[in-house]
Amino acid sequence: MGQYESHVFVCTSGDSCPTQGNVEQFVKYLRDEAVKSGLKTDVRINKAGCFSQCGHGPMMVVYPDNVWYGGVQESDLKEIFESHIKGGKPRSLCPRRASMPCLCPPYVLNS
Ligand code: FES
Repeated sequence: MGQYESHVFVCTSGDSCPTQGNVEQFVKYLRDEAVKSGLKTDVRINKAGCFSQCGHGPMMVVYPDNVWYGGVQESDLKEIFESHIKGGKPRSLCPRRASMPCLCPPYVLNS
């Protein structure tokens, strides 16, 4: 295990994601939630450059789980934080997800 229990990257400086959502606000929200939850030293929220998944954004990735979220909306952040980042369970995004990739945003590109 690395220094952090969970390390989250939000694509904030690619050409596409920043045009698809207020990704700077995503980072602020997640950082604030980490502090409020007493997880400041366990959870790291970083801004990141392009993940080469342009057009699927806004994109964020949660490690060490290697879960890539695409099509993330501000309204999804609470559930992603509570369920995955804090709770350790990647968000279950779609009833079809167990058997096939789901394209209902936000979706998990791999897990
Ligand atoms: S701009 Fe975000 S994945 Fe390329």
